[in-house]
Amino acid sequence: MNLTKLLQSQGFGTRRECRALVMSGRVGVAGEEILNPDAEVAEHDLIFTVDGKDWRYREKAYVMLHKPSGYECSQKPKHYPSVLGLLPTQLRNRGLQTVGRLDEDTTGLLLLTDDGQFLHVYTSPRKSIEKVYRATVKHPLSEEQLNALRKGVVLHDDPEPVAAQSAVARDAHTLELTLTGGKYHQVKRMVAAAGNRVEALHRERMGAYSLPDDLAPGEWCYVEPDTAR
Ligand code: URA
Repeated sequence: MNLTKLLQSQGFGTRRECRALVMSGRVGVAGEEILNPDAEVAEHDLIFTVDGKDWRYREKAYVMLHKPSGYECSQKPKHYPSVLGLLPTQLRNRGLQTVGRLDEDTTGLLLLTDDGQFLHVYTSPRKSIEKVYRATVKHPLSEEQLNALRKGVVLHDDPEPVAAQSAVARDAHTLELTLTGGKYHQVKRMVAAAGNRVEALHRERMGAYSLPDDLAPGEWCYVEPDTAR
C-alpha cells in the first residue's frame, strides 16, 4: 500500500498532511526513516512509527473503553463531553462509533469500532448479544422483584413484557442483571417497573468482552474482533 494512503487510513490526517508527515522525516517503517510519501509498504502485520511512537497497522479498529461517569456516548454531546474525547486523535479521525450506548451516568465497558459489520452484528436485536450489568439499587432487593425481572416487566413503550436473561442479588443492594435487548434506559426502567430504583449502573460484560480489572475509568485498549458471531 502507498505510505500516504496507509497513514490516512490509520487516522493521521488528510492526504496532504500525511505526505507532509512523511517528507518531514517523522515516519519510520521497520526501523528506517522513510522520506518518500509514495513508498510502497506491505501493510500486513506492519509496525510503523510516527514521531518515534509505534503503531500497528489495523484495517479496522476495535477498542474497549472503561467509560467513566459524566460522559455522553454521542458524537454531538449536549450536556457532557463525548467519550470520543477520551481516545487519541488518530482513533477519532478514523470515525469510530460506539457499539450501542451507555447513559451519561453509567460506567463500565463500552466498545467502539469503525467496522460497520461488527457494529451491526453487536447491536442487532436478532443476535441477542448478552450484556451484564451491576446495578446498585435504593431499596433492599426482594425475591418478588428478582422474579418480576426474570419473568418480564412491562415498559411504557412496549406492550410485550421484557424479561432479563438472569437477575441475581449479589447482596441486598447489588443486582446483577443480564439482558439481551438494548432499549433506551432499559436497566433503569426494568428495575423501576419491578418496584426498585437504580442508583448506580456499571456494565461488566458485552458478548465476548469483559472489562479487565486493570483498565481504569477513562482508559482504553485495543481488542480483537469477535469472529464467533
Ligand atoms: N440500561 C440503562 O438504563 N442505562 C444504560 O446506560 C444501559 C442500560
